[in-house]
Amino acid sequence: MSLLSKVSVALIAILLAYYLYSGYDAFEPSMLKGKKVIVTGASSGIGEQMAYHLAQMGSHILITARTEEKLKKVVEKCVKLGAASAYYIPGSMDNMTFAKQVVQEGKRLFGGLDMLILNHIGYTYFNYFDGDVDHVRNLLEINVLSYATMTVEALPMLKKSNGNVVVVSSFAGKVGLPFTVPYSTTKFALDGFFSSLRMEFKQQKTNVSVTLCVISYIDTDSAVNTVSGVIQQPAAPKEECALEIIKGGALRKREVYYQYQATKIPLLLRDWAPEFLENLVLMNYDVTKLKQKQ
Ligand SMILES: NC(=O)c1ccc[n+]([C@@H]2O[C@H](COP(=O)([O-])OP(=O)(O)OC[C@H]3O[C@@H](n4cnc5c(N)ncnc54)[C@H](OP(=O)(O)O)[C@@H]3O)[C@@H](O)[C@H]2O)c1
Ligand SMILES: *[C@@H]1O[C@H](CO)[C@@H](O)[C@H](O)[C@H]1NC(C)=O
Ligand SMILES: *[C@@H]1O[C@H](CO)[C@@H](O)[C@H](O)[C@H]1NC(C)=O
Repeated sequence: MSLLSKVSVALIAILLAYYLYSGYDAFEPSMLKGKKVIVTGASSGIGEQMAYHLAQMGSHILITARTEEKLKKVVEKCVKLGAASAYYIPGSMDNMTFAKQVVQEGKRLFGGLDMLILNHIGYTYFNYFDGDVDHVRNLLEINVLSYATMTVEALPMLKKSNGNVVVVSSFAGKVGLPFTVPYSTTKFALDGFFSSLRMEFKQQKTNVSVTLCVISYIDTDSAVNTVSGVIQQPAAPKEECALEIIKGGALRKREVYYQYQATKIPLLLRDWAPEFLENLVLMNYDVTKLKQKQ
């Protein structure tokens, strides 16, 4: 090995160690105190848990989803947990007018915005692709275009606050997986949109962070009900997942990996040994447990 190679290797090792170490555990719940936050898809699952964490940290919270009764209960619990204030606005994210309205409601209530957490997803099936391209189009509206719409609408406020956009994606948004063709399509699209936008922000010195969250199988009711039996790996806890997403956003990380061993580690194989990764992934599925499509 030439001296230059040795020096390069040493330098990379030092930089890597520094990079991994810096910002590690630098998170303080007080970072979210008094912050103005919108969380979408917060009537259940990971979004609901994010609302509770933010409430405990003393944030101002505006949550949204379609089901008003559920949102109402989540808001009541947020107030009890110590939210600086908590509101909800019900509506469907296949409607871009509504997507904009949510951001405008945040502006009206809080007079600004620090963090936009985009987390909702539309309903999809868990099975072999059925050829329904209209469903893919509809899911793109809900899972992607509403995210883009809300980000555009929120950008003036986020620029003022040096704020954060937090996008909840999935391992299925980095690696193609069976039984989730429409869903995976939308999650890959989020990576394209937000990773490119992040580059432009950097170029333009726009100090708004973009955090893409790469999430593995989580124990939310909807995921467990859909996937039960077919995916062999155990589901990770939604409470911890929700906290890791908020931490990543507050620390202005590029990407969050949760659970780390089920996302980051397999992703290291993706570009170097894609077929090996595919075989590992397929071993994780029990096709005989696949439910008949309703
Ligand atoms: N759970 C997992 O295993 C897992 C794995 C990887 C990534 N993720 C990601 O984590 C995020 C949250 O997932 P989750 O498991 O917590 O899901 P979830 O419990 O099913 O929550 C989905 C939320 O989106 C809302 N929603 C559904 N359709 C909507 C629509 N048309 N317009 C507006 N809101 C709508 C739901 O409320 P309403 O029905 O009341 O509208 C609910 O609040 C998603 O982005 C998902 O892709 C989850
Ligand atoms: C879309 O959302 C707007 C704003 O909330 C609402 O006025 C309108 O009725 C919605 N459109 C549909 C088709 O639901
Ligand atoms: C960007 O905003 C963050 C949060 O306010 C701040 O800590 C950081 O110094 C800012 N960076 C630049 C380059 O202004």
